[in-house]
Amino acid sequence: MSADVPVAGRVPLLVLAFASLFLGLAAGLARLGWLFPAPVAELAALHGPLMACGFFGTVISLERAVALSRRWGYFGPLLTGLGAAAGILGAPFAIAPILVAMGSAVLLAASLVFYRRQRELFTLTLALGAACWVLGNLLWLAGRPIYLAVPFWIGFLVLTIAGERLELSRVLPPSAVARRVFVAAILVLLAGIALSAFAWTAGTLLLGAGLLVLSLWLMRQDVARRTVKGRGLPRFIAVCLLTGYVWLALSGLSILVSGGLGYGGASYDAALHAVLLGFVFSMVFGHAPIILPAVLRVAVPYTPYFYLPLALLHASLLVRLTGDWMMLPQWRAWGGALNGLALLAFVLGTIAAVLRGLAKKKTGL
Ligand code: HEM
Repeated sequence: MSADVPVAGRVPLLVLAFASLFLGLAAGLARLGWLFPAPVAELAALHGPLMACGFFGTVISLERAVALSRRWGYFGPLLTGLGAAAGILGAPFAIAPILVAMGSAVLLAASLVFYRRQRELFTLTLALGAACWVLGNLLWLAGRPIYLAVPFWIGFLVLTIAGERLELSRVLPPSAVARRVFVAAILVLLAGIALSAFAWTAGTLLLGAGLLVLSLWLMRQDVARRTVKGRGLPRFIAVCLLTGYVWLALSGLSILVSGGLGYGGASYDAALHAVLLGFVFSMVFGHAPIILPAVLRVAVPYTPYFYLPLALLHASLLVRLTGDWMMLPQWRAWGGALNGLALLAFVLGTIAAVLRGLAKKKTGL
């Protein structure tokens, strides 16, 4: 019997992840003042957990379970997906964070297995990212305000992406000095996250500095600087990466200029969504044509249409952040709505590309 889970068994996990994405998106729009029916509007407080844990946590745990090829790894995305569903269905408060915290512990265990197999800086970075997620979820479970968990969730997503980029840079390994700068950036980031739990302003300022240094490192070291000169898919991926790094830098700068992350309000919204939407989703757009074939065994043939959701994401985020910085609530609300449209266009565009790939395969073209 195979130790892995067949592709059909992975689909329900993705369904749970995408239910979190769309309901989380609607919950975010409700927070910007857009009207939704009561059951959706009541999810407003769960917007952050649904996006960071229900969607990203489940997708990342699924990807790592596939790479691990062990049945137990799939308990990670299963538990986080069920945790998100429990939150959506209004299960008594602690059930959702309990399931999500357990699921994140499975991701941490899987990441430690990878680290034991391959004692490299990138596997360590991935494991530290998973550890941040567990700690953030424990704060949520302990009933602390959501904003206190947010730096840990940012750490989870940023370290996961940085670790994966570092792995891919093995073709063109960074110099000893560059590796030291990477380690320093990660240490500043981790120190800021840990400190934020006790001294919010000082901790988030350090987090901002870590995000800024890491973005400069990625801009300078990533192979995307070379592949952007190519054509087709490699060029598209490189454009996603390089523009994503600009949002990462802007998020760090925004935290530093605002004197910390704050907790709610315009500067909080701007810094958070520059990293969580601008940086993280640019990475998702760029990596989807590589990750989906590995997880679902379907091809995602490249088409220039891929640039449309990416351009919409960047333009709409600029509108939203301008609204935040200039205190223009209408800009913020419309920017948020167009952010949602960009994500929808990406999902529909990807489905269309998969269907085209399947049709091509059938006709043997
Ligand atoms: C696509 C459109 C999105 C919209 C319209 C949206 C909207 C919002 C709003 C209005 C807030 C409250 C900000 C404040 O307190 O002033 C918020 C907070 C937050 N958002 Fe988003 N967001 C979006 C995408 C995302 C994504 C992709 C993530 C990824 C993880 C995310 C994670 C968070 C988190 C963690 C918080 C903090 C939660 C809290 O303090 O309760 N959001 N979002």
